[in-house]
Amino acid sequence: MARAFPFVTRDGRKGIVREARSSDARSCLAIVAEASRERPRTLAVLEKELWKPRDWRKHRIPWGPHGVSLVAELGGEVVGHLNAERGRRLVTRHSAEFGITVAARVRDAGVGRALITTLETWAREYGITRMALGVFPGNARAHGLYRSMGYEDEGIERAGMVFPEGDQDVVRMSKRISSVSPEQQAQATGTRGYDEGDRPRDGGG
Ligand SMILES: CC(C)(COP(=O)(O)OP(=O)(O)OC[C@H]1O[C@@H](n2cnc3c(N)ncnc32)[C@H](O)[C@@H]1OP(=O)(O)O)[C@@H](O)C(=O)NCCC(=O)NCCS
Repeated sequence: MARAFPFVTRDGRKGIVREARSSDARSCLAIVAEASRERPRTLAVLEKELWKPRDWRKHRIPWGPHGVSLVAELGGEVVGHLNAERGRRLVTRHSAEFGITVAARVRDAGVGRALITTLETWAREYGITRMALGVFPGNARAHGLYRSMGYEDEGIERAGMVFPEGDQDVVRMSKRISSVSPEQQAQATGTRGYDEGDRPRDGGG
């Protein structure tokens, strides 16, 4: 049975985050295509590299040990998409890398936060202890969201990407994922709040 995680936007609309289905291909590709045209760039993709629906379906990752593809729905419409892939080697399988895109018309409403919160639920289920990503230094909204969810800057890949208009630095970020959910931790300690409760318990990180 496919999972669905309800959330409420900042302006009170009810949405769900769920596992992506094959039939979400066109909606997700439209969201990514829209973002790929933004300048300054926010996405690490060239328009000419965009997948066709068939490629998207092939790369969709069911909720499972290798990764997950998620969508967010508002009013029955897909408005956001997240893909996470777990490291494949014995020494990297504790870690997963993700990419996320939310349709421009619904940004700043909490959809991105809901997708990442669900991603971290997936990560706990599979014993993943590190979540990582790359973000362009000028992408203040994405960087602000990640920071507020407990992701920390690790360093900068100088000219980590090259676009037709020039080199692009990439800020690497990561978060240690505790095996205890924020809700469980809040119950145990009597505290509230996602970030507060989600620090590594062993002090590592
Ligand atoms: C980045 C993105 C996925 C975030 O999704 P979203 O639904 O807009 O995110 P949310 O509404 O959940 O959160 C936005 C956060 O950014 C903050 N924010 C908005 N503008 C900001 C700015 N200029 N500087 C700092 N923080 C900012 C908001 O306050 C909010 O933080 P909060 O939850 O702590 O209040 C989405 O905006 C997007 O798809 N952007 C284009 C593609 C992209 O950048 N993808 C990520 C590539 S790394």
